[in-house]
Amino acid sequence: MIELRSVCKSYPRGETTVAALEDVSLSVRPGEMAALVGPSGCGKSTCLNLIAGADRPESGKIVVFERDLAAMNEHEIVQYRRREVGVVFQAFHLMPHLTVRENVALPQAIAGERDLAWVDSLIESVGLTHRAGHYPSELSGGEQQRTAVARALAMRPRLIVADEPTGNLDSRSGAAVLDLLNDLRREAGATLILATHDPAIAGRADRLIAMKDGRVQDGAHDR
Ligand SMILES: Nc1ncnc2c1ncn2[C@@H]1O[C@H](COP(=O)(O)OP(=O)(O)O)[C@@H](O)[C@H]1O
Ligand SMILES: [Mg+2]
Repeated sequence: MIELRSVCKSYPRGETTVAALEDVSLSVRPGEMAALVGPSGCGKSTCLNLIAGADRPESGKIVVFERDLAAMNEHEIVQYRRREVGVVFQAFHLMPHLTVRENVALPQAIAGERDLAWVDSLIESVGLTHRAGHYPSELSGGEQQRTAVARALAMRPRLIVADEPTGNLDSRSGAAVLDLLNDLRREAGATLILATHDPAIAGRADRLIAMKDGRVQDGAHDR
């Protein structure tokens, strides 16, 4: 189970602070695809960053597979981020000077591991074997995002967090990336939590979490 319990998070803005999340509670079951939806600025990215361990809440609990991220020390959080969660961003965030294969292998290199057979099988799963030696600048947007999806799975994470992963893609490439994320999620028995503006993508989720002004809307748990 992945749960946020009464999570609050604010950011400084000028002399004051902006509440990005106010008393957010939500839960996602293992193996589900959950979609966070809502207008720009409603707190989707903040939520995903907290779940991915990239940021800390001010108050509340973030329970991922029975551990409270908010209570972990820095070392534990680093291990969690390196080994247990795979992240996909809207803007791909590939390393420009590394090839597709090197990008996909990067999380293993960072964690001090090496399983190139798995890297190559992921590249094959995302349909990029013929592009494995190419650099990101030589790829289409859809191919870059497929590389990023493969990279997110390099450590065989139980949890995949994707922040508008189709936001920079045309609808056909976007649908292909979502199919891929879902296939890989099912094969691995992983959980997928994504933020999206696209109703077609949100409509495919097992669980819809609607947000507005830093809060989860009523009924979001009951789908
Ligand atoms: N690093 C940051 N510094 C300051 N304000 C931020 C930061 N990240 C997000 N915010 C603010 O928090 C609110 C929620 O933002 P965000 O989580 O990015 O929403 P969404 O992803 O739904 O567009 C917004 O008001 C945004 O301006
Ligand atoms: Mg966002």
